[in-house]
Amino acid sequence: MNVGKEACETSLSFICEDYEEEEPKLCELDQSKTYKGLVGIYVDESTITMIDGVQGELYYRGYPVETLVEHSNFEEVAYLLINGKLPTKSQYSEFKDELIKERGIPDNILAILKSFPRNTTRIELLRTAISALSLYDYDNYDYSQEANVRKGVRIIAKLPTILAFSHRIQSNEPLVEPSDNDSHAANYYYMMTGNEPSQEFVEAFDDILICHADHSINASTFACRVTVSTLSDLYSGVTSAIGTLRGPLHGGANERVIRAMLEEIKKKDNVIPWVEEKLKNKEKIMGFGHRIYKTWDPRAKILRELSKKFWDQWERGEVEGAIPNPTHKDEHGKIDNIYEMTEVLTDYMIKNKHIYPNVDLYSAGLLHILGIPTLSFTPLFAASRSVGWVAHAIEQLSDNKLIRPRLRYIGELNKKYVPMEER
Ligand code: ACO
Repeated sequence: MNVGKEACETSLSFICEDYEEEEPKLCELDQSKTYKGLVGIYVDESTITMIDGVQGELYYRGYPVETLVEHSNFEEVAYLLINGKLPTKSQYSEFKDELIKERGIPDNILAILKSFPRNTTRIELLRTAISALSLYDYDNYDYSQEANVRKGVRIIAKLPTILAFSHRIQSNEPLVEPSDNDSHAANYYYMMTGNEPSQEFVEAFDDILICHADHSINASTFACRVTVSTLSDLYSGVTSAIGTLRGPLHGGANERVIRAMLEEIKKKDNVIPWVEEKLKNKEKIMGFGHRIYKTWDPRAKILRELSKKFWDQWERGEVEGAIPNPTHKDEHGKIDNIYEMTEVLTDYMIKNKHIYPNVDLYSAGLLHILGIPTLSFTPLFAASRSVGWVAHAIEQLSDNKLIRPRLRYIGELNKKYVPMEER
């Protein structure tokens, strides 16, 4: 294939002509700069989620996230994100029933969950199980919008079951079957921990799920939209998204926050020396910084308040069953109040680096005190964000354009091929 300079120029002028009427012009973008990491680039239009990174605001379908946390619940927010409007009473009850009905997973999926190596991360188990699940969905080869909604509801409903089962299999604990009447949050919590949650725990858990339900075109949602933009299927979109969420720069940060607190910092007095050492070594502090927010992440604010509430109760010995998380139980007395340590860290980072906490910082301490196993933090994010992935896949397909950006080639051209024996 000839990719010499001349050939490139010829093909470029052909491309430029081809795109003459397009906005922004491909030739202009091509000649100006490279948008590494697609920073600041709008790739499409959306009516799902709006983020104002300067004011620190987040809206789902026009509703401020704080309002939804206060008045709504996960099921209603899921309906809103997927369908674009709040449900009527009957629509809500039908949607909720459908989510409950779809909680079970095929025996073959349970069998593969049992067959995985014991040290596999929960998010890898989830990625593989979701991919396999498509084979058992009778709508698998129906690509209509109606079928995509049905498949989306199944994914959202089954995800907590897959996560809870795989967690309990991996920790050699008996499986807890999905309930046929509990709310999404209560059922998920119970299946995962085996503990009947108090109403206060359920509400907090529900708030966490709402806060993670969507966040516009973050890395995992982008991956999902790219996948379905090839007219591939919804399960492939969600599988791509889960693989993308796994990384510590995205969904994996809260696990690292809690590990740092439990295994490295441990005491309030250690926070400042710990962060100074990390920054001296040019390491990133997990749970801080964001591509869009340049101020407080509104979700971090919501979870900060909740975290304070539960850690204050813990100080007074009032958290039901104390700290249900076994890791912390063993460490009791050796580890300080995690909310307070988080506050010291936040204060230091804002004052010294002007970098604000993101949702992962405060979700870490909150999930910990609610008794969620650390290994389930990132998968829990996926359980909630599945709503956003489904909503975005449907939006992408409603007015699809293949997502295919360009890479600026900066290597050499016209290199002489040297036969292997002469190299
Ligand atoms: N700790 C220390 N310094 C940081 C941090 C941090 N957490 N975040 C950003 N910075 C600094 C960078 O070192 C960089 O400084 P420089 O310009 O002097 O080199 C500057 O702030 C800009 O940072 P970038 O990494 O270039 O910003 P970007 O928008 O690419 O990255 C990201 C955003 C990936 C979230 C980053 O802030 C980060 O790595 N944070 C830690 C991981 C984390 O918490 N991820 C969860 C994100 S929220 C979510 O996905 C749910």
